[in-house]
Amino acid sequence: MLSGKVIMITGCSSGIGAAAARLFAAEGAAVVLVARRADRLHSLAAEITGAGGRAAVSAGDVVREEDVERAVAVATERFGGLDGAFNNAGWATAGSTLHETDSAVFDRVMSVNVRGLWNCLRHQIPAMLASGRGGSVVNTSSVAGLLATGATAPYVAAKHAVLGLTKAAASEYGQRGIRVNALVVGSTRTELMDEMLTNTPSLEGSFVDRSVQKRMADPAEIAQAAAWLCSDRSSFVTGAPVPVDGGWTAA
Ligand SMILES: NC(=O)c1ccc[n+]([C@@H]2O[C@H](COP(=O)([O-])OP(=O)(O)OC[C@H]3O[C@@H](n4cnc5c(N)ncnc54)[C@H](OP(=O)(O)O)[C@@H]3O)[C@@H](O)[C@H]2O)c1
Repeated sequence: MLSGKVIMITGCSSGIGAAAARLFAAEGAAVVLVARRADRLHSLAAEITGAGGRAAVSAGDVVREEDVERAVAVATERFGGLDGAFNNAGWATAGSTLHETDSAVFDRVMSVNVRGLWNCLRHQIPAMLASGRGGSVVNTSSVAGLLATGATAPYVAAKHAVLGLTKAAASEYGQRGIRVNALVVGSTRTELMDEMLTNTPSLEGSFVDRSVQKRMADPAEIAQAAAWLCSDRSSFVTGAPVPVDGGWTAA
């Protein structure tokens, strides 16, 4: 499904991003792996290349524009361009009301989820325009991008902003062959989820209950939707918040 494509994936040292890296590579994409924990990225790259896939590591922080710029350059230098991006790096908190949430939490949540995405779009889109091949960008939002979910207010605001950037970019570049979509991700078993539930165990019941399937997703299930959106099979889908939420936003 992704044969011949070059795809940059952020936040792939664990969870949804790591599952996506494995899946995209298995489907024929060359993947550029981005996150801060370089050791994890190198292990993942070794696993992918050991299985016959193509992967390059560009360790860095999406909040630092120069790190993002370097990752896009790695895609071009190693694999000849950039056809897709899964902008998935993020961080969430839960368990405090707005007035109890420290302003430092607001700044961190906004910088990773929103400024990080901004940096990615600003550097990925010119690479896609330059290639003349167009491209497909997938951004990780959340059910918190549509609803107040129980996560902290800054996270709800940040994931709404992800949908705003997605729609704006989709409408600006639609005629130039670049599609931009977002995943509205429901509760998924990852390190981030484990961290939130360790801090606020009372959330687990509602995070499971609000899915009509009464369970959390496996990261691989979210990766499948990202792969479809990165592929040409979703050629008439753009500017869309695509729910992968076990029915949370339906009920
Ligand atoms: N799990 C859920 O239930 C759920 C639900 C809705 C949406 N989401 C979203 O899904 C995305 C992936 O999260 P996950 O659940 O898979 O959690 P995860 O396993 O903790 O993965 C988060 C990833 O983001 C990376 N990251 C964090 N800050 C970064 C930064 N400044 N620069 C570069 N990479 C950074 C982390 O790597 P390093 O620490 O190595 O940098 C890690 O690879 C996030 O955007 C999250 O908001 C998750």
